[in-house]
Amino acid sequence: MLRVPQAQSPLLEALAGQTNVPPPIWLMRQAGRYLPEYREVRSKVSSFLDLCRTPELAAEITLQPLRRFDLDAAIVFSDILMVPYGLGQRVEFVEGEGPRLDPVRDAAGIARLNSPSADNALVPVYETIALVKAALPDRVPLIGFCGAPWTVATYMVEGQGSKDQAEARLWAYRDRATFQRLIDILVEASADYLVGQLKAGADVLQIFDSWAGSLPEEEFARWCIVPTKRLVERVKAEMPDVPVIGFPRGVGVLAECYAKETGVDAIGCDTSMPIGWIRDGLQSLLPVQGNLDPLLLVAGGRGLDERTEVILAALGSGAFIFNLGHGIRPETPIENVERLVSFVKNRPA
Ligand code: CP3
Repeated sequence: MLRVPQAQSPLLEALAGQTNVPPPIWLMRQAGRYLPEYREVRSKVSSFLDLCRTPELAAEITLQPLRRFDLDAAIVFSDILMVPYGLGQRVEFVEGEGPRLDPVRDAAGIARLNSPSADNALVPVYETIALVKAALPDRVPLIGFCGAPWTVATYMVEGQGSKDQAEARLWAYRDRATFQRLIDILVEASADYLVGQLKAGADVLQIFDSWAGSLPEEEFARWCIVPTKRLVERVKAEMPDVPVIGFPRGVGVLAECYAKETGVDAIGCDTSMPIGWIRDGLQSLLPVQGNLDPLLLVAGGRGLDERTEVILAALGSGAFIFNLGHGIRPETPIENVERLVSFVKNRPA
């Protein structure tokens, strides 16, 4: 299915390789706890998962940051752990602690998962997308997303967030064949999920590989590059024109082979990547996105302006999407977000 190009969307133009002055801007986790209107909606339901499963509320939350700030994209309000939830794993979000899952640690645990397309648990996300899409102006595309198979597997195996993803890494070393089965299931489930989001109205996709940085190079190639490549191929087999942003966080120089080999259309850069290297090593290959430190957005002030200027000066003359190097933090003052967006939009060319 060919998509009708949207009226002057700076984000879609940048993803197609165009230089925009000013560049498009959106912020990872732009909806969420730093906004009082989010906390207000959040207080109406007891569990975070219920929020993701209630299309009217999730759609409202998705739109909240766009009412306040002149952003160039919306990102559907959901979570990367919706895929394990869709696979029938018990997923819960504990207030102040983060996600808790019944860990999958062996072949028996894998056998207990549903087959990827056997249930309707993810339908509310598609309904959210349809509601948001109907409310957005044409120039603001809607980003759908999933976690990369490796990152989602780390949560499924650990049963929670972890410092070093040791359980998943050990399993992959000790019994590669069985761990491969888990990754294969996640490739299939994530591909179905992304195609479902596109059919519902998403215009762009982002694949979050938040824990890609915990793997040495051969393991990174095996568990991040190859599965991401298969995921992108599966999605593009059905929707050839959809732009896909890959975000392999914490991988340093390995981002170069990720950019060359996965088939993504653009690459998200984390805060630790040197700006000159992003320009010379990555932007020469693909449009790039990033990479302001989310803590500098908390701190604000002149330091925020100065670093924003450095990023714009280095990357703004090529295909570039302004973003953070990781998700926005709950303690971020709203006025700092206003200051950042206005700085990016009003900088003299
Ligand atoms: O960007 C957006 O505005 C869309 C929403 C979004 C959420 N999670 C909502 C959320 C997105 C894109 C995600 C992605 C996500 N979720 C990632 C990848 C990006 C990253 O940060 O590395 C990961 C690893 C997760 C898993 C996850 N979800 C964790 C570890 C936690 C707990 C930590 C935390 O930030 O609270 C969540 C919960 C979560 N997902 C919240 C939100 C707004 C907070 C829940 C609440 O409000 O109670």
